[in-house]
Amino acid sequence: MTTPTTSPPQVPDDAHLLDLAREAAGRAYVPYSAFPVGAALLLANGEVVTGCNVENASYGLTICAERTAATRMIAASRGEAGENGTTRTDDRVVVKAAVVGLKASPCFPCGACRQVLHEFGCQSVVVEEDGHPRAYSFAQILPHGFGPADLPGQEA
Ligand code: THU
Repeated sequence: MTTPTTSPPQVPDDAHLLDLAREAAGRAYVPYSAFPVGAALLLANGEVVTGCNVENASYGLTICAERTAATRMIAASRGEAGENGTTRTDDRVVVKAAVVGLKASPCFPCGACRQVLHEFGCQSVVVEEDGHPRAYSFAQILPHGFGPADLPGQEA
C-alpha cells in the first residue's frame, strides 16, 4: 500500500493574487462609476480573501474592494475573538493585498483603504504595472501610518 502524500499548502505568488483580484473585480457592483475594482488579501494563514467595490445610489455609501475584502476576512474568521473582539489570529492578519482596477492600471488603494489595511497588519500592496506585478511596501504607500500600536494598551 502506498503512503498518501500531502503536498504543503501553496502560497499564491503575486501574479496569482492579481489574477484573483481581477476575477473579483468581475463581480463588482458599479452602476455609477463603471469602474470595477477587485482586491485579494493574502492572510497570515495562507488563505486568500477577495472583495470588489459595491456602490450605492447614495454615492457616499460605496464600499471599496479592499474594505469589502477586509470585512469579509473578519466576518469569516474562525479565530475566537478575544475580549473586545481584538484577537489577531492568523485568519485575521493580512500579509499583502493585491488590487486590480479593470479600467486603470496600476490601481492603488485609496487613502481610506490604506488605513483599513494597515489596521490588519498589511505589509505590502501589489498592483499591476505594464502587465507585471509590482509590490510596494506599506511604509512607501502609508508612511507614518497611525495604527493599533499607537493606542495605549492595544496589540500591534
Ligand atoms: N475604489 C475601490 O474599490 N478601491 C479603491 O481603492 C479606489 C476606488 C472604487 C470606489 C468606486 O466604486 C470606484 O472605485 C470609483 O471611485
